[in-house]
Formats: sequence, structure tokens, C-alpha cells
Amino acid sequence: MIPLKSFSAVLGALVIFCTRCCSNSIPDISCYIVNLENVNCSWNCVENLNFSYKFENGKISYCPTYKYMDVCRAGCIFPSENRYSTLSTILSNGTTQRIQTHNIQYAVKLNPPQNLTVLWNSSTGDLHLQWIISWPIVPRCVETEISYRMGERPWQGSNRLPAGVTSYTLAKVSQTKRYLFRVRHRYSTTCGESKLWSDWSEIVAWRPIKARQETDEQRFSNQTGPYLAIGLVSLVIILAVMVRFLLECERIKVILVPVAPDPTKKLNDLFHEYGGNVEGWVRISPQLRDAFDPDYTETTCEVTEIKPTV
Ligand SMILES: *[C@@H]1O[C@H](CO)[C@@H](O)[C@H](O)[C@H]1NC(C)=O
Ligand SMILES: *[C@@H]1O[C@H](CO)[C@@H](O)[C@H](O)[C@H]1NC(C)=O
Ligand SMILES: *[C@@H]1O[C@H](CO)[C@@H](O)[C@H](O)[C@H]1NC(C)=O
Ligand SMILES: *[C@@H]1O[C@H](CO)[C@@H](O)[C@H](O)[C@H]1NC(C)=O
Ligand SMILES: *[C@@H]1O[C@H](CO)[C@@H](O)[C@H](O)[C@H]1NC(C)=O
Repeated sequence: MIPLKSFSAVLGALVIFCTRCCSNSIPDISCYIVNLENVNCSWNCVENLNFSYKFENGKISYCPTYKYMDVCRAGCIFPSENRYSTLSTILSNGTTQRIQTHNIQYAVKLNPPQNLTVLWNSSTGDLHLQWIISWPIVPRCVETEISYRMGERPWQGSNRLPAGVTSYTLAKVSQTKRYLFRVRHRYSTTCGESKLWSDWSEIVAWRPIKARQETDEQRFSNQTGPYLAIGLVSLVIILAVMVRFLLECERIKVILVPVAPDPTKKLNDLFHEYGGNVEGWVRISPQLRDAFDPDYTETTCEVTEIKPTV
């Protein structure tokens, strides 16, 4: 336990010493309180430096957990004490040390809101958002900011909710648009305001049933569209190849098989030569020729037209 006065004296002396003769090789430290539980101090990694800290009226403690960046120490997380007491930090490279004091009372960074859920009230057409503020944070000390985006539009609506509120209703939402929500916290003025907002919560999405169907259809057409196009293109290619192949075959046929001679000329000559006696030049046996002769005669029927009598 080092008395405050002697600590201050050492601190003052070191500050003077450092400003006089040291270069800036020992980096600057910045600190904030994490969720009223821990303090997070960070610096630029230069080499492995030793970190110790002291709260006002407290004792000097060595860093319990270093944070590493690449291969070198770049921060320290240690338990938070009284938020309103001044924090002193000492960073040392073995021969030189740098001491800084920090007012961290306005630098409280809460954890992002937990278990953000969105519920649809079909009877009112409203969307109901809710989240959890968990121990050790008291809800009445926490104010909230809500932001949402509709469809593809940018994030909008920084709706500030007063401390203690853990739900929000968005009235009359569009029945065709998809909504995304995110929420963040800050320690409120009622409990000693903090300048830092928490990180945004995880994003939750809500889609009306109609939009869900539409997007499903869209996804379906998105899926079938390319296949349809590929199918059509291949069909056209296949057809073109077939036509080309057929043309090619026709040409081959023409080359390989000479065009069949026209038989009519020869037949006409024959016809004239034999004076129309086809049986004469087609050598057929006499029996067969006889078979062609009609061996029966039809009795002629006399048909008379009955003239109408007046
Ligand atoms: C510590 O830092 C000081 C100031 O930059 C430097 O002169 C000294 O050599 C360093 N010592 C070690 C051990 O790195
Ligand atoms: C500590 O602060 C640094 C720098 O802001 C950040 O990268 C890191 O995530 C913080 N760690 C914790 C545990 O909050
Ligand atoms: C850091 O502290 C440890 C243990 O107290 C010591 O062995 C080491 O040399 C120190 N390193 C620097 C860079 O001061
Ligand atoms: C919050 O969510 C976690 C996991 O997502 C779950 O284990 C926990 O029970 C939830 N808390 C409440 C109060 O719903
Ligand atoms: C919907 O809103 C009405 C009016 O605010 C309320 O009475 C009802 O409980 C809500 N229903 C659901 C499922 O939240």
C-alpha cells in the first residue's frame, strides 16, 4: 500500500522526468469501463511492456490479463472499482515508465443488448421489439437507441428511448417489406451519463408472410432462370448442329450416290417403239398374258331417265 501523497509525488516526478528526457517510445494508453465490471486499457504494440494500475486511494496492482496484438502486449483488462475514482496507469519497458491518469467515469461502455426479439401482432399490425438488460446493469440506468432498415434502404430512425424501457413497438409496418432491427445501450444521465454507446446488438429480421412468398418465388425464378436460359441456348445449338449435319449428309449423299436417272424418257421411247403394246416388250409368258385378258363380259344395263310427266 503506497500512500496517495507519495504516489502523487512519484507520479509528478516521473511526468517531469519523462517530458524532459524520454522520447515517445512508450505509447499512450486509453481506458474505458466495460459493463461496470472491468476496465479495458489499450495501447499500441511496440514491444512487451509491463502494465500496472492504481485507483485513487487504492494500491498498485499488476495487470492480471494482457491482451496481445500480433505477438506483443497491447492492452490489459482488470476489474473495475469505483467508477468515480481517478485511475492511474503505469507502462514500463524496464528502464523507463510512463504514468497517465484517466477520468473514466464518463467512459462506460455497456455490453450490447441481449436476446433481441421481434414479434408480430396480427390483430394490430404492429411489430413488437424486446430485449434484455442483464446484471449487473440496472434497467433504469440504461437508455436505448433503436435503428431499423426496411428492404434495401439504409439504416434509419435513431429512436432514443428513455431509461428503463426494454421494448418498442413499430406501428403499421409494411406488409411487403423485410425489416431489420438493431439496438444499442448507453448509461443514462439519470445514473451519471456515459459518452460511449454499446456496440449494436445482433441484427434481427422480420418478413411479412407476403414478402416471404414473394422472395421464395423470386428465389425459385432466380434458380430456374439460368437453367432455362442454358436449356434454350443448348437447344438452339443442338438444332443448328442438326441442320448443319443434315446439310452435310445431303451433300455427301449427292457426292457418293449419283442422281438417279429420269426413267420417263426411256419409257416414252419404248412406248413408241412397241406402239403401246406394253406386254410385247415386257417379256411375259403367254399364260400370264392370257391371265391379263378379261375372261368375262358384263351385261350392259340400260339406264333410262324417267322424265317427269306434267
Ligand atoms: C525504454 O524506453 C526508453 C525511452 O524510449 C529507452 O531509452 C530505453 O532504452 C528503453 N529500454 C528498454 C530496455 O527497452
Ligand atoms: C478493449 O478495447 C479494445 C480497443 O477499443 C477492443 O479492441 C477490445 O475488443 C476491448 N476488449 C474488451 C474485452 O472489451
Ligand atoms: C515485467 O515484469 C516482469 C516481472 O515483474 C519482469 O521479469 C520483466 O523484466 C518486466 N519487463 C519489463 C519490460 O519491464
Ligand atoms: C437469452 O438467450 C440465451 C441464448 O440465446 C438463452 O440461453 C437465454 O435463456 C435467453 N434469456 C432469456 C431471459 O430469454
Ligand atoms: C396485440 O395487440 C393488442 C392491443 O395492443 C394486445 O391486446 C394483444 O395482446 C397483442 N397480441 C399479441 C399476440 O401480442
